[in-house]
Amino acid sequence: MISKCRWKLLAMLAFVLVVMVWYSISREDRYIELFYFPILEKKEPCLQGEAERKVSKLFGNYSQEQPIFLQLKDYFWVKTPSAYELPYGTKGSEDLLLRVLAITSYSIPESIQRLKCRRCVVVGNGHRLRNSLLGEAINKYDVVIRLNNAPVAGYEGDVGSKTTMRLFYPESAHFNPKVEDNPDTLLVLVAFKAMDFHWIESILSDKKRAWPPVSPAPSGVGLLPAPLTLHFREPVPSHGCHPLLRTTGLDIRILNPFFMEIAADKLLRLPMQQPHKIKQKPTTGLLAITLALHLCDLVHIAGFGYPDAQNKKESIHYYEQITIKSMAWSGHNVSQEALAIKRMLEIGAVKNLTYF
Ligand SMILES: *[C@@H]1O[C@H](CO)[C@@H](O)[C@H](O)[C@H]1NC(C)=O
Ligand SMILES: *[C@@H]1O[C@H](CO)[C@@H](O)[C@H](O)[C@H]1NC(C)=O
Ligand SMILES: *[C@@H]1O[C@H](CO)[C@@H](O)[C@H](O)[C@H]1NC(C)=O
Repeated sequence: MISKCRWKLLAMLAFVLVVMVWYSISREDRYIELFYFPILEKKEPCLQGEAERKVSKLFGNYSQEQPIFLQLKDYFWVKTPSAYELPYGTKGSEDLLLRVLAITSYSIPESIQRLKCRRCVVVGNGHRLRNSLLGEAINKYDVVIRLNNAPVAGYEGDVGSKTTMRLFYPESAHFNPKVEDNPDTLLVLVAFKAMDFHWIESILSDKKRAWPPVSPAPSGVGLLPAPLTLHFREPVPSHGCHPLLRTTGLDIRILNPFFMEIAADKLLRLPMQQPHKIKQKPTTGLLAITLALHLCDLVHIAGFGYPDAQNKKESIHYYEQITIKSMAWSGHNVSQEALAIKRMLEIGAVKNLTYF
């Protein structure tokens, strides 16, 4: 009698075990944990292809074939034709780009590639992150995208400490990857002009010696000598003792300008060929959301948005005191971008973690 009961119990236990193993194996992204306990799992449910499906209303039929990062083979073996010049394409910059791609990489980390469903968060630099206490929640996403010189050190509670990718351009490269990033963070260069390729090349290659050495600024970040500075809107950290030098080039990626084209064309509806005087372009933030919608299945955003019109004195960033005035000559139209983000929120393509 007793042994019969025991057998029943054992059979039931075996059945439960099989179901648990099957369930954890069926969720490939978690296969390292043999047993999957849904109760402990507080991650947002992730539906494969959802972001792409939802945003197709805005983006239309655009090519999913586009690589995230530019690859040497596309310029070396195949001459990839581009309809536009930078920042929307690579037309005219191919030779320079070839040299840069030869000393950088393009791979997406295996840890991201193998995920069946990718949960991503784009962390903007907005003031709304202050006291948000979102740090822990942000660290839980599979992919955390940060922008420009956004600091992490000292702000972990509000913005988290994990950085999968950091998008930057020369003028915004005032950050120390050793302090603000993880050892495996991808540093993603957004090129606005051919000179940006020159800049990264000089930082990464031995060519740096050909440039006159400059005395480092107090922060330890050198500034470019005058003639080259003229090509940039703001002072640019130079190779002198630039923190990016700790990189080998293997953690630098060159973002496919295709995403800039999509952000400008589909989200902001900007003319692709603009007269020289009104060169409006998307912000790195909008660009990052566009990229995330291509890379991820679920996209959340935090720290986006600017203070309202009544609040002109409030800082726009969580880590520094600058007001909306500083955006006046940036070439960005923040109200137009806000409308674009609102549209994406309305159709459910993205979700906001802070007020938007
Ligand atoms: C988008 O592509 C699908 C299938 O590839 C096609 O059926 C649909 O008509 C296309 N839509 C537009 C707007 O081109
Ligand atoms: C910015 O965009 C808004 C909304 O699309 C538009 O009304 C405004 O004229 C634009 N401002 C500039 C300076 O282009
Ligand atoms: C997202 O923004 C809306 C306003 O557009 C706001 O009502 C909502 O509370 C925000 N969500 C979060 C989590 O802050």
